Amino acid sequence: MNYHIKIINQLVDNYSYIICDDKSNEAIIVDPADEKPLLEFLKNNKLKLIAILITHHHSDHTAGIMKIKKNYDVEVYTPNKKINGTTKYVKDNDKINLNFINFEVISTPGHTLDHVVYFSKKEKILFSGDTLFFYGCGRVFEGTNEQMLNSLNKIKELPDDTIVYCGHEYTYKNLEFILDELVHWQDKGATKSKCKELINERGSSMPFNLGHQKNMNPFLNCNDIHYKQGISNFRKNEGKIRADASELDFFNFIREKRNNY
Ligand SMILES: [Fe+2]
Repeated sequence: MNYHIKIINQLVDNYSYIICDDKSNEAIIVDPADEKPLLEFLKNNKLKLIAILITHHHSDHTAGIMKIKKNYDVEVYTPNKKINGTTKYVKDNDKINLNFINFEVISTPGHTLDHVVYFSKKEKILFSGDTLFFYGCGRVFEGTNEQMLNSLNKIKELPDDTIVYCGHEYTYKNLEFILDELVHWQDKGATKSKCKELINERGSSMPFNLGHQKNMNPFLNCNDIHYKQGISNFRKNEGKIRADASELDFFNFIREKRNNY
């Protein structure tokens, strides 16, 4: 591995990322909202920006594109031609070759209809935007819950040792939601304090391991009978959802509860 990924805090709780190649000093930005800290990092580290990757059209993932383009003549990969600054339109299954790293584009409609995630098979890293969060998933704004569930199931097929970088720091709140509203975990207190410590110490809970989330994230377990039993037996959910309810019914139930949490 000759690259590293710099996490750049954006706005209130957004993340942008800079993938930096340690050999060539080439860099790729994912989801720029506020160009200032991104440009500063590129300048301070004498990086040569070669591409911008965009997961979806929301302004907290795209607002920095045009100002970055004023400083760098760079390709902008987006899943929506209406996104200002798009030079390369991407769609499901496209392969992107970026000198030091390659990505596959996976279409994940739900949060928005244009949403895509970027997966590097070789490096086993995933930029999941607002589709998959640490212990959660994005709100369903434009698509249907069924689309969102299908999108998450596509991500679930990626290898367990995939390292995920998502679009927002919602981790602690997601975890609190699971523990307050969904299931009883033995090590509840320890899990919460470990998560809080991690965020306090490093300033971020990113990145996270996909295999871990396949076991722990409720939105990735809507077809897991044990997880479902845990949810339906939880005192607050008694009589509200049956353990044998369908995968989509479970997703609907959990998403609705999270929306109101
Ligand atoms: Fe979004």
